[in-house]
Amino acid sequence: MKQQPRCIWLTGLSGAGKSTLASSLEEDLHVAGRFVYVLDGDNVRHGLNKDLGFSPEDRRENIRRVAEVARLMVDAGLIVIVAFISPFRAERDFARALFEPGEFIEVFVDASLAACERRDKKGLYALARSGGLKEFTGINSPYEIPFSPEIHLETDHDSLSDCLAEIRLFLDTR
Ligand code: ADX
Repeated sequence: MKQQPRCIWLTGLSGAGKSTLASSLEEDLHVAGRFVYVLDGDNVRHGLNKDLGFSPEDRRENIRRVAEVARLMVDAGLIVIVAFISPFRAERDFARALFEPGEFIEVFVDASLAACERRDKKGLYALARSGGLKEFTGINSPYEIPFSPEIHLETDHDSLSDCLAEIRLFLDTR
């Protein structure tokens, strides 16, 4: 495939911009002639992981399966973009450990809870605040911030194109 296979792992709160970034990055890389695939929480949970909910155990299993699938895809030579909240450090570290050094790129898609709540595209924050949704990340379920991600994006301040440029620069220089 004449490319360096990698797993670009986007983690962050719901509404932080992971899916938007993932699809824009996919398009960007596709245009550049790369072979790329996106695994996104919002679609994988309708198929492979439709038996899983949002308890800590189910989130762990969700991430474990996605990490294994991403590894297989990297093994096949693809650039895989993973966009999951993946709130627990231990599971992200588990995912990292499946890859060779340099293959796993953790991207912290950082947005304040206030900003995510303001956007609330799916209305889930409002639902969680009103007690209609248990274990919602950031409200009544924890998000453990990455300690040393390869890339830290701040989508409160940085534009989509700035964020994309930062990821592209990383990919092109490492
Ligand atoms: S993860 O925590 O297991 O990594 P994942 O990324 O797959 O989560 O799914 C997150 C998406 O599921 C959110 O963007 C949101 O649309 C939806 N969702 C539904 N219920 C919850 C919840 N309790 N907590 C977080 N996200 C939820």
